[in-house]
Amino acid sequence: MIVVPVIAAVLATISSGEKEPGVRFNWLAHVCSLAAQLLRDKSRDDDTRNAQPAQPVPASMATIGIIGSGNIGSNVAKAAIAAGYDVVISNSRGPESLTHLINELGENARAGTTEEAAEAGDLVLVAVPLGKVGELPADALAGKVVMDANNYYPQRDGRIAELDNNEATTSELVQRALPDSQVVKAFNHINAKDIPSDGTAAGTLDRRALGIAGDDHAAKALVVSFLDALGYDAVDMGPLAESWRTERDTPAYGKRVTRAELEEILPIVERVQQV
Ligand SMILES: NC(=O)c1ccc[n+]([C@@H]2O[C@H](COP(=O)([O-])OP(=O)(O)OC[C@H]3O[C@@H](n4cnc5c(N)ncnc54)[C@H](OP(=O)(O)O)[C@@H]3O)[C@@H](O)[C@H]2O)c1
Repeated sequence: MIVVPVIAAVLATISSGEKEPGVRFNWLAHVCSLAAQLLRDKSRDDDTRNAQPAQPVPASMATIGIIGSGNIGSNVAKAAIAAGYDVVISNSRGPESLTHLINELGENARAGTTEEAAEAGDLVLVAVPLGKVGELPADALAGKVVMDANNYYPQRDGRIAELDNNEATTSELVQRALPDSQVVKAFNHINAKDIPSDGTAAGTLDRRALGIAGDDHAAKALVVSFLDALGYDAVDMGPLAESWRTERDTPAYGKRVTRAELEEILPIVERVQQV
C-alpha cells in the first residue's frame, strides 16, 4: 500500500521544517501531489521491467552530486540549491577551478573531485558530454541513482555505431558504463539555461513537464520527486530503451511542454536517426 509511506512522508516533511524549497510551494500540497503522481506512475509502470512499489522521497534527500559543471551541471545546481538541496559539484579540471561558480552558487554548494561528488550525492547528476562517460567513477557511483542528461552529438562525441543504428539509447550506454548504478534519463530535453527559471509550484496551470526513463521503478520515483521539488512534472517514458522519445530532433526536444502535451506526444513520436 502506498498510503503508509505517504503518511510517513507527510509527517517527516511537517516535522523537518528545514528544507523549505525556496518557499515556492506548500510541502503538504507537494507530498499529496507526489502521492497522486506516484499512483498514476505505478499503474502506468506495472508492465515495465523492474516494477516495484513506488516510495515517496523523503525531504532528507539532501545532497545532489553533480559531475560536470558546464551548462547542465551549473544550472541544475542553481535550481537544486533554490529548492533547498545541498550540492557537491565537480568538473574535469579539479575543485580549485570551480571557485567562481561556488561563489555564485552560495554556501549550499561545494566543489569536489568527481569521486567526491559521486560519493556525496544521495542522488547524482551526470552532466558530462557523452564521449566522456567512460571516464566516470563507476565504483564511487555504485548503488547510486544517477540522472543522465546526455544527448548524442556525433560531431562532439564521435560516431557511436549503436546510436547511429538506433540499436541503443544514450542512457543505455551510460547504464552500461555504470553497471552498479540505477540510471534514470532526466533533463536531456530542456535547454540548460531554462532549468532554474521554468520551474513552478505543483498544480500550477501549464506547469512544465520533463520526460524521464529508467529500468528501476524506485530510482525513477526518486527522480520524479527531485524534479517536482525543482518545479517540474515528470512523465515516465518507460525503461531506458524508450528514452529515445525525447532525444535530439524529437518533438519535445527543447520545447516547453506540459504533462498533458508530453503524454500526447510520447506514444506517437517517431524514432529519428541522429546524424
Ligand atoms: N547545454 C544544454 O542546454 C543541454 C541540455 C540538455 C542536455 N544536454 C546534454 O548534457 C550533457 C552535458 O552538456 P553541457 O552542455 O552541460 O556540457 P558542457 O557545458 O560542455 O559541460 C561539460 C562538463 O563536463 C565536465 N567534464 C568532462 N569530462 C569530465 C570528467 N571526466 N569528469 C568530470 N567532469 C567532466 C567538463 O569539465 P570542464 O569544465 O573541466 O571542461 C564540463 O564542466 C551533453 O550530453 C549535452 O548534450 C545539454
